[in-house]
Amino acid sequence: MVHLFSPIDVRGVNIRNRIVMSPMCMYSAEDGHVTHWHLVHYVSRAVGGAGLIILEATAVEERGRISPLDLGIYRDDHVDGLAKLVDLCKKYGAAVGIQLAHAGRKAEDYPPWERSVRKVRGSKHAIAPSPLPFGKNWTIPREMSVEDIKEVQGSYRNAVKRAVEAGFDIIEIHAAHGYLIHEFLSPVSNKRKDQYGGSFENRVRFLLEVVRIARSEMPDSMPLWVRISSVDYVEGGWTLEESVELAKILKKEGVDVIDCSSGRIVEDEPFGEYPGHQVPFAERIKREAGVLTQAVGMITSYELAQEIVANGRADFVAIGREFLRDPYLPVRWAQKAGVKGMVPRQYLRAW
Ligand code: FNR
Repeated sequence: MVHLFSPIDVRGVNIRNRIVMSPMCMYSAEDGHVTHWHLVHYVSRAVGGAGLIILEATAVEERGRISPLDLGIYRDDHVDGLAKLVDLCKKYGAAVGIQLAHAGRKAEDYPPWERSVRKVRGSKHAIAPSPLPFGKNWTIPREMSVEDIKEVQGSYRNAVKRAVEAGFDIIEIHAAHGYLIHEFLSPVSNKRKDQYGGSFENRVRFLLEVVRIARSEMPDSMPLWVRISSVDYVEGGWTLEESVELAKILKKEGVDVIDCSSGRIVEDEPFGEYPGHQVPFAERIKREAGVLTQAVGMITSYELAQEIVANGRADFVAIGREFLRDPYLPVRWAQKAGVKGMVPRQYLRAW
């Protein structure tokens, strides 16, 4: 039986268990650079037993930042800090990934704590497939020309090259949560009349081209994850059936794992959270597309995490906020499961 603590090999990368630290913005970078905060924060989770740590949304372009405090990989001088962070996390047994992101129309050029006092949110540099704002008090983004599309894809290429150079084990492409790639996928935000809009084939084109670019720059031995919003919670939005079709195509293109989140294509949506609420998406995509999946969303107990993996509903469980509450979550869950060898020897007297 597969267990939450069963190791898994993806393209030869050995991941010690199925517990993934979900990517979470820390708003602690300086001009895109890794700071001491990132070293303490991520390395603690490596010591705490995470199988895979996926670094927060890391911008492939300066204008694609969710905030000015995002990590960046849009210049060569970002690589050193990332490489040091990767090296330290690996030293403590975790595999490490980077989430490559472009915020599209949700780019903001002020810190997150100013969001609630802004009359108008967004950035005047924001670009998107169509000139439609994220919400009613948001800036209207500039519609991307085909030249813009090629330029952004060039930024993804450079970012992938830098991620390989920094020594990451895996790369995750952020195609969820209403950011640029999701904006292309969803009919709600993509009203283009050219080859990048309209039909399903046209809406997935931007992502497929990014995936092909990524795969062409990555060694065969390096796995590729894609995080999607499996459904939009709005009339006329992206559907689970489309996610299944997309997953089948992505698998053929060399994507190894579909990370199944949901929603956030518009500001005003009925997004209801409860334990395991997105697991059915991971389960259906896994079953119908025959691809490895990662479940995420309020997975806060060992029992739920083990149920998901052992019943074959997903191959990985990504943990977000519970990992912020407890860096040693996998060690605690291993104790519950009776799995030995997870407690760092420095802490043995505490367990
Ligand atoms: C997030 N989330 C997120 N998702 C993502 O794909 N990239 C990111 O950079 C972020 N940033 C982020 C920051 C913070 C502070 C939180 C709490 C969340 C979403 C996160 O990865 C996860 O999908 C959700 O939090 C749901 O999982 P949990 O928290 O219920 O385990």
